[in-house]
Amino acid sequence: MTISVIGAGYVGLATCVSLVNSELNLYNYIVCADIDQNKIEALKSGSCPIHEPDMENNLFSKLKIEYSNNVSGCISNSDLIFVCVGTPLYDNSNTINTDYVSFVLSQIEANKKNSDVIVVLRSSVPIGFTRKAKEEYSIKNLLYFPEFLREGSAVADILSPNRIVVGTDDLIDKEVVQTAINVYAGNTSNCPIVISGYETAEIIKYGSNAMLAARVSFINELSQLCSAYSANIMSVSKGIGLDPRIGAHFLVPGPGFGGSCFEKDICGLEAAFNQNSGINSNLISSINKSNKLHMDFVANSIISNIKHGDKITFVGATFKAGTDDTRYSPIKYLINKLKVEFEIDISIYDPNMRDKDLDIYNNTDFVEACSGSNLIVIGTEDPNHFDLDWEAASYVVYRRLVIDLRYIMINYKNSLLSKFKYLTLVNQ
Ligand SMILES: NC(=O)c1ccc[n+]([C@@H]2O[C@H](COP(=O)([O-])OP(=O)(O)OC[C@H]3O[C@@H](n4cnc5c(N)ncnc54)[C@H](O)[C@@H]3O)[C@@H](O)[C@H]2O)c1
Repeated sequence: MTISVIGAGYVGLATCVSLVNSELNLYNYIVCADIDQNKIEALKSGSCPIHEPDMENNLFSKLKIEYSNNVSGCISNSDLIFVCVGTPLYDNSNTINTDYVSFVLSQIEANKKNSDVIVVLRSSVPIGFTRKAKEEYSIKNLLYFPEFLREGSAVADILSPNRIVVGTDDLIDKEVVQTAINVYAGNTSNCPIVISGYETAEIIKYGSNAMLAARVSFINELSQLCSAYSANIMSVSKGIGLDPRIGAHFLVPGPGFGGSCFEKDICGLEAAFNQNSGINSNLISSINKSNKLHMDFVANSIISNIKHGDKITFVGATFKAGTDDTRYSPIKYLINKLKVEFEIDISIYDPNMRDKDLDIYNNTDFVEACSGSNLIVIGTEDPNHFDLDWEAASYVVYRRLVIDLRYIMINYKNSLLSKFKYLTLVNQ
């Protein structure tokens, strides 16, 4: 069988990892295609174009994958195609841009040699999209197979998924669904599988992200309340999360949620409500608003600790630890706000970040990045921050002040940060 993965981003490359790890694919030919020439050149030379733990060794040490810029050529020879291209928001809009997916589907329609080709949408798509696409592009075996990986642990997540969700319709053979599951997840025999209609699977995907984002916003709103009452948000979070009906996950306060998925998937969910009269999304449509308000609360808390002309060093600027991805990073939002509205001088130390769109020099030397700073802000929850040379940094800053937006250094502040005044958002 010839298997193509279209799109060599976080989901596409993680899908490749799952394919090469499945013994079922030993005799399959696997090709990964992307229109981005730089990515394909990097992959051809054995280097992974994204920072993701264990991705590189998993991609290049097992079964061989071919990498190509010739998307239509790959499509024409394929028996099974995973579509993993982006579905971002249009610029300055709350509308999901499905153009990349639609373009690939039109290429499949035009180039497929095998009329029984199985097409598996891994991109997160709006509710109702898959059914319409099946009609529009005459693809008999079109499945919606959403991905739930977390950046920073994409490889571990894809190799041990907590569930597999497949959206299908009555006209597709059960064997087709099983083939797609086997090829993708040959090693995951104990994983719960939900096979449903297209729309159900689409709502599961968007609903999952909206739920996670809601929990983050919920605890962040409580962190603001804690700051008003000098209460301890970490204890509040622990006390709430100990209820097994609630659980502790995603109840960690911070600077706001970010990443390429939460905000846009909530927009997609909201759009589906808006397209149907008589139902309301009051709760869901408040999640993004709450997140923006929280990011402004964080910005104001920082501003209350600095003066015009001061310099701030951000330690970590990606949207979370363990990734190079700055898409919708709350730190990026803060940096831009502080720079543009308050003309603050900013430096960044983030060894993972590759994105240049912050337009600020990313200094890979922590102590140098801190030189002349009036405030150090901890922006990501990376445990490597513990090992930084805080002592040396204390000699090169103008003022010894740290604000920890992730509450991760709390237990280490005496030993590591003894020379600094240490603040979180709620104890200033
Ligand atoms: N990143 C995540 O954590 C994550 C998790 C679950 C689901 N998703 C969903 O998966 C999809 C992909 O996300 P991502 O983060 O991997 O995106 P990404 O931006 O990292 O990668 C998308 C890739 O598709 C390529 N591409 C675009 N048009 C193409 C075309 N016509 N032919 C071939 N390649 C093309 C781009 O060059 C890019 O390399 C999105 O719908 C996203 O919502 C992402």
